[in-house]
Amino acid sequence: MAASLAVLGGPPAFATPLRTGCPNILDPTATAALVSDAMARRWLTNEGPLVQRLEERFAALHGVRHAVAVANATLGLQLAAAAMGIAGEVVVPSFTFIGTVHAMSWIGLRPVFCDVSADTHTLDAARLEAALTPDTAAIIGVHLWGRPCDIDPIQRVADARGVPVLFDAAHATGSTRGGTPLGRFGRAEVFSLHATKSINGLEGGLVTTTDDDLAERLRRLRNFGFNAGGRVVSRGINAKMNEFSAAMALSNLAGFDRLCAHNRAIHDAYRHGLAGLPGVRLCEHPAADVPSGHYAVIEVDDTAPLGRDALCRVLVAERVNPRRYFRPGCHRSPPYAFEPLRHPLPVTERLTQALMHLPTGLQMNPDDATAMAAVLGRALAEAPRVRAALAAPAP
Ligand SMILES: Cc1ncc(COP(=O)(O)O)c(C=O)c1O
Repeated sequence: MAASLAVLGGPPAFATPLRTGCPNILDPTATAALVSDAMARRWLTNEGPLVQRLEERFAALHGVRHAVAVANATLGLQLAAAAMGIAGEVVVPSFTFIGTVHAMSWIGLRPVFCDVSADTHTLDAARLEAALTPDTAAIIGVHLWGRPCDIDPIQRVADARGVPVLFDAAHATGSTRGGTPLGRFGRAEVFSLHATKSINGLEGGLVTTTDDDLAERLRRLRNFGFNAGGRVVSRGINAKMNEFSAAMALSNLAGFDRLCAHNRAIHDAYRHGLAGLPGVRLCEHPAADVPSGHYAVIEVDDTAPLGRDALCRVLVAERVNPRRYFRPGCHRSPPYAFEPLRHPLPVTERLTQALMHLPTGLQMNPDDATAMAAVLGRALAEAPRVRAALAAPAP
């Protein structure tokens, strides 16, 4: 049965709104029990037992020696950069969440934007060399959509120049590079537990590294510069994770496999439903590398009868809230837009106009994905009427 279209006056397809980034709460009872334990202990922050347990579990999931819990990934990126002693310019993709770039800029580092690959949407290693200058202090790779960026080519360029690599792994909990878990690459990798991420810790993040000294510095920096003996030995900040965040993250992490399977079924439904639609493509990632399946991203190209923005409005009318990531691109956002662009970013410019992230997660089931794909199919088939309806002034 064809879906009706709300933009053409039909009823919305969904009774309950579906949101991209809707928090996953896998086991509210287990979360509540952990929160209750923490309250009974009255140990609510300052490296409490739940934070310690989360660090152990996360390190085990990623097969890495150290996972240092922090209040959020933005602070994690800043702590990692500070612990690595980076100063000067950092080469970074513009096609990322603004937080990657703000994190660097906020601590005085100067972002230099490099384009991404059209296939993977991650840093284009072939263009990296041209972005390096004598002031380059580090390269920041982003594992966008949980998909590992081109780790080895990026590391080779960095090694040849003698600069470190820091990976923003905010999207990449549980991801692997050909079976090797992320978390051990570069000098450090930074994961996010923001409520919109696959594993929701309300707010939160983890910095992973194989470097013992770096881990020790990270632990000190996140806690006002206090060392393990309780003495202040350096500058530091408050970037500690609290016990409630760890409780939420731990109970969600326990159900990670279930969440992955659920999202894979949603992806299958999107793939099936979108197959053959003109100009619309579901971006695919190897399931073994990106098990979370959290990011269902479609690319709408110039051959589609309706563009990305029109399709987004069609879905909003159906009570779906997709995200047009990452619009308009960090290089077009203040304050970076006020600096002259050093290198053209043609792929980034195109992707900011073409990509849309569709809902996933426990808020929905595969039938909802099928229904959403049907809506898109119907809109594309009726493009002239949809275009006219969207152009008409609101009644
Ligand atoms: C790619 C990327 N980097 C960094 C961040 C910042 O993460 P947090 O919200 O945990 O500070 C996000 C958050 O959405 C992100 O998507």
